Order: sequence, then C-alpha cells, then structure tokens
Amino acid sequence: MRIDILTLFPDMFQGPFSQSIIKRASDRDLVNIVIHNIRDYTHDRHHVVDDYPYGGGAGMVLKPAPIFQAVESIKPETGHQGEATGGGASAAPVILLTPQGRLFCQGIAQEIAKCHHLILICGRYEGVDERVRDYLVTDEISIGDYVLSGGELAAMVIVDAVVRLLPGALGSDASALDDSHATGLLEYPHYTRPPVYRGWAVPEVLLSGDHARIAKWRREQAILRTLRRRPGLLEEATLSEEERQLISKTEQSGFSMSSSSEQE
Ligand code: ADE
Repeated sequence: MRIDILTLFPDMFQGPFSQSIIKRASDRDLVNIVIHNIRDYTHDRHHVVDDYPYGGGAGMVLKPAPIFQAVESIKPETGHQGEATGGGASAAPVILLTPQGRLFCQGIAQEIAKCHHLILICGRYEGVDERVRDYLVTDEISIGDYVLSGGELAAMVIVDAVVRLLPGALGSDASALDDSHATGLLEYPHYTRPPVYRGWAVPEVLLSGDHARIAKWRREQAILRTLRRRPGLLEEATLSEEERQLISKTEQSGFSMSSSSEQE
C-alpha cells in the first residue's frame, strides 16, 4: 500500500512513523509512506500557502493551488489513472482530514486498508479553500468531535489504524481480528504472569488449559464489557440467542451478575 500525506509540518510525522508497527510495516515494504510539504508546491518567493478569507472574518484559508498541484504531482508518479476531480472507481481516495468529515471508526479503517493507494491532506488554519473539497477530495474524515490544530494528528491516527490491518503488519494476524471494535465488541480482558499479583488472582478459567472454556469466557467478557461501557455498539453486533439472553439477564439483575473481571 502507498500512502501520500500532504502537510505543512512534515517533521511531525517522523517520531510516530519511525517506531513500532508502522516502522516494521515500512521496513517489510507492506506500506510506503511518502510525506509531502505543501509549501514545496508554491511558486512565489515567500512560499505562501494561505491567504485572507473572501468576505472577511478571522483566520487564514489554505490556498487551492499548492494542494491541487501536490495531488496532481503524486498521481502520475504512482501511475494513477483517475481524474484530478477524484472520479473513477480505481482512483486512490483523496481524503481531507477535517472536523467536518465523517467520523472515523474501525469499519472505515477496514475499508481504507483495502486500497492500494491513498492520499491524505492535512488541513490547517481556519480551513481549506472550498474548491479543494468540491473538485479534488473524494472523502472527508474526522477522528472525533473536537478541533485539533490541524489534520496531522488525525492522519497519524488513520495511518496507524489502517497499517496494523495490513496482512503481515502484526506479529500474528489473529491479534487484529480480536481487537476491540474488530468484532463489533470491545475486547475481553487480558492477563499475564504472575498468576497472583498483590493478592489479585488471574481468573481461574484462563489457567485451565481448556481452550473451549477460555474462548467462551472471553466472548462473554467482551459482551459484558461492551454492555457496560458502550451499550450502543451491541445494536450492530452479531450475537447468538444465548448471548442475547446473557445481556437480558445481566440488565435485569442490575448488572450485578456479571462474572469475574467485568465488575467495575
Ligand atoms: N483537523 C482538526 N480537527 C480534526 C479532527 N477532529 N479530525 C480530523 N481532522 C481534524
């Protein structure tokens, strides 16, 4: 997968992208992340990327030309066939990071992880010229209902969530399948040695070696944790009749009957 990121602050990406899973995925050529400084696509002496808003008002607006030129310079480099208008089924998505975008979630990460090529544009200042939205970007994504100083941190969040889904990026592919949200549920609790720490014991079932019992316990814990913390997620989750009964019983008991760890 190739990911091009357009930003005014390329150095921000150095730390996060040179560590851990993203670093390993890059080293294994599972992903090629290319950072572009939008300022490099200006042609004036002072490399101006922003200007006052037409109609007045506070703040500056990112000019369209450097952003269009950056995206258009990337497309031929990667043999891209789509129009600069963002059309064409095979075209790489051109995603603007903005608090006005659709809310990022695991489903969107999975959708993006299927792409061979992706272009992320990090907005800054008060916003970007609307023609970038209208004629260049194919999608707008927000990572949450709060305002960041720019799209860079949002781009890092998206890249991290997507790269860990690429086959071979994690130590074991099974770990991504069990993640919170991958199943539509929050993840079950984890324990490691020692079996008793400060008097707090690991749930007995996990030491039993009985894989079927362990799988059942984990699934129940995931459901109970989701019920307590994010009940809305259960509406979308695929649950068996038995699991639905577990939820009803737990609700009827005022949540007091949840077993072992899920008792916060
Ligand atoms: N830029 C500023 N705030 C943002 C957010 N919440 N998500 C994505 N991009 C942003």
